[in-house]
Formats: sequence, C-alpha cells, structure tokens
Amino acid sequence: MSTIIKNGTIVTADLTYKADVLVEGGKIVEIGQGLLGDEVLDASGCFVMPGGIDPHTHLEMPFMGTYSSDDFESGTRAALSGGTTMVVDFALPSPEQGLLDALQMWDNKSTRAHCDYSFHMAITWWSEQVFDEMETVVRERGINTFKHFMAYKGALMVNDDEMYASFKRCAELGALPLVHAENGDVVAELQRKLMEEGNDGPEAHAFSRPPQVEGEATNRAIMIADMAGVPLYVVHTSCEEAHEAIRRARMQGKRVYGEPLIQHLTLDDSEYAHPDWDHAARRVMSPPFRNKQHQDSLWAGLQSGSLSVVATDHCAFTTEQKRYGVGDFTKIPNGTGGLEDRMPMLWTYGVGTGRLTPNEFVAVTSTNIAKILNCYPKKGAVLVGADADLVVWDPEKEKVISAENQQSEIDYNVFEGKKVKGLPRYTLTRGRVAVEDGAFKGQEGHGEFVKREPSTPVAKALSTWKELTAPRKVERSGIPASGV
Ligand code: URP
Ligand code: ZN
Ligand code: ZN
Ligand code: ZN
Repeated sequence: MSTIIKNGTIVTADLTYKADVLVEGGKIVEIGQGLLGDEVLDASGCFVMPGGIDPHTHLEMPFMGTYSSDDFESGTRAALSGGTTMVVDFALPSPEQGLLDALQMWDNKSTRAHCDYSFHMAITWWSEQVFDEMETVVRERGINTFKHFMAYKGALMVNDDEMYASFKRCAELGALPLVHAENGDVVAELQRKLMEEGNDGPEAHAFSRPPQVEGEATNRAIMIADMAGVPLYVVHTSCEEAHEAIRRARMQGKRVYGEPLIQHLTLDDSEYAHPDWDHAARRVMSPPFRNKQHQDSLWAGLQSGSLSVVATDHCAFTTEQKRYGVGDFTKIPNGTGGLEDRMPMLWTYGVGTGRLTPNEFVAVTSTNIAKILNCYPKKGAVLVGADADLVVWDPEKEKVISAENQQSEIDYNVFEGKKVKGLPRYTLTRGRVAVEDGAFKGQEGHGEFVKREPSTPVAKALSTWKELTAPRKVERSGIPASGV
C-alpha cells in the first residue's frame, strides 16, 4: 500500500517548495505534482518536513541509584507525538563492564521502540578491553560515536589521560567523540562545601555547577581533541563560556559541534528559586538552567551556525525519584524530560519569534544531526530513497503544554503552562502514520536500529590535515658530537 501526502509545502534544510510526497515500503519513492496513492494524507496549510532526530536521550537509564522513568516505549511515543522520528540513546557500561556487554543490555531495552533509534557508546572507564571492543562497536555494531563524561566524579567520569587515549582511538577508527563538559573535580568540591554550609536545597545544584566549570571543561575537551586529531561534539552546551570556546575553535578551523538543549534555550535559572522544593528539584539537571544572557548566546549560536543542533537530553525522573534528594541536593537524580516538546517549543520560540527560519529549524532539529552522526540522507531528508520519517507540521495548531495529557510517564512537565503554536498534524515513521491530530496510532516494536558508518567526510578531511601538519624530524647531514 502507498501513502500520498498532498497539498503541502515541503520544507528542508535548504529548500521550500510545493509538492506531493509519495511513500511506499517505508521510503519516499516520488516527489512531484499531482501524484496518486492509496492512503491520502491532506497537508493543506502544512509544512512537510523531515521528522525530528533527537541526538541525546537517556531512556531507562541507570543513574544515581535509580532508573529514568521513560523507557523506549513511552519515550518514543512521546517523541513521535511531538514530531520526532528518531532518537539516539547512550549505552552506558558500568565500571569494569565491557562495551559489548552493555550494548546487549541496550539492545534488550530498545525492543519496544515505536520509532527508529541508534546508540552512542559511553566510555566510562579505560582498559585494553575497552580499546579493543571500540573497534567491534564501530565496525560490526554500526556505532560511530563515543561519549565521555568529564563530570559525575566517582561514577561515570573519566580523567584527561583516559579521554586522550579514547579520543586517539576514535581518530584511528574514524569515530566521533562526544563530551559532557563540566569540571567534575571542582563540581565535587563545590558540592561538598555547599552541603557543609547547610546549603542543601535544589538551588545549590545550580550553585555547584557555575558556567565557569562548563567553560573550562569545554576548552579542555577541545584541546584534547585537537591533540588527538579528531572532531568533537559537545553535548548540552548551556552557557556563553562553553559556546565561546566552541565558537573560537570553529573560527580556528577546528571541527567542533555544539548542542544546546530546548530546556536551556527556553527555561532559566529563576526556576531554582521557586519556594516549592518539588518545583525546583524537578528542574535539576546538569548543566543547570542559566540566566537570560546565556540563553541569548545560545540562540545567537543557532542563528550564526556556531552551534549546530538542538536536543533534549531527555532523562525523566518522577517527583518521588527527585525526593531522594530531600536534605541533600547532590542526591536529586539529574535530568529533565522534553522529547514531546522539543519541536513545538523550538518552533514557537524560534520560528514564531523570527529567531530561526523554517529551514534553519529543520537543519538544527534533523538534517545537521543526521549529517554529523552520519545517517544522512537515510534520515533527515525529504528525498527520493530516504526513509519516510516525516512530519506534516501545522503552523496554526496550538496547545498548552501540560503533564495531564503528555505521553511521558512522569507526573509533571518542566514546560507546564507554555503555549505552543506549531504541532504535528501527522507524524510518519518509515511510512507508517503514528500520530494523527494528537491521537497516537504507533506500533510498539516498529522501531529499528539505525547503523551509522564511521569515517565521515569531516573525519577524513581532518585526519588528512593532521597527517600533513604532523611534527616531522629535521634530517640533518652533520650532527655534532655530544658535549658530554
Ligand atoms: O542532568 C542530566 N543531564 N542527566 C542526564 C545525564 C547527562 O549528564 O546527560
Ligand atoms: Zn550530560
Ligand atoms: Zn545526557
Ligand atoms: Zn506502545
């Protein structure tokens, strides 16, 4: 059976034009005028765009003594409801656990996904086994990205020597390292000091992670990537200090990508001053929300191209889970939701305000991500041969975000009360209509793993340049005798 999307305006990262889209066997088979198909989806007044890709989620993540509450079932249901058709989650080996062993656990978790997904592999410790398994992960398992936590000391954090070794391994394999950039040693010390002074509320979480610790770590990661000769992707860039480091690196020709989150773009640090403990704790995430100046910096980064993509870092904990940290903010599970809200919030606060064009919206929510992570044009494109992961976007459709009617399993929403204008009329996952006017019609287990090859053009170009400019011994004819 074929599906035809009629009367819409196609919006891609670089083009806007009126055409129908014919879908068959999960793929786009024709784009043109007056096409015919079995099932007709009316896109009058709508934009037909590549479905969103969220490059940063934590579904059923074991973290801080618990598991994040949205799993691949509810998480991908939320994703599709908001127009996102692919998520990239993090496989996290526990200390001493092999990478392939961890990957098996994530394979098991993801069987219920409603939409396609891929994985990043986290490097949480270092050994010869990790070094060896990285090759299998890349060459056999289709994972070309490795995440490094510079924070969460005593848990996920890796040190500079481990990071340098892993980045060099990434360079050899044509893989891309990712970093969570915060100085974990300083954060741990600030946490200790704040607790000692009786500063135990959720607001102290933000005090313990000021922009400076993120800026320093971002600069350090950029330097280490440069020494290892590998591109770098900085996750959840939240502040001017980190953005400045990325901007400067890019101006110097370094291949560095920055990923702001929809939360940091639209919510600010006044949330932590809220008199209700639960309200503040529900917004505890790392890095914390920042002030308006930092938000302006992130928006400017998206406009100028110094920041590349918008993610959610979806890592949802219930109020009950957040309460593990009553009396000790360091025990509040870190993370917030956003999968269902990223696209409508970015459209409303980006396109709706004139800070982004519709084409830029597509670039930062989908196409840039597919290119950087190397699954373009299978994903992130409206092209013949691409997967029919599409969203028919109604720019006039409105709602007020509320936990009452969200797909996520948790009991609140950090965007509660925000009015959004711009929502999916239809979301298609490989040709299957999963969302129609707010009604979810997806199929559990429909989602497939997306393999991503290493050695992107950018990785190849950088390794060519690094080889050409590598230090070389000066060959000399007459070497004087040693002075000893
Ligand atoms: O607070 C956050 N961001 N939780 C999820 C884990 C991470 O650091 O990305
Ligand atoms: Zn992180
Ligand atoms: Zn994360
Ligand atoms: Zn389901």
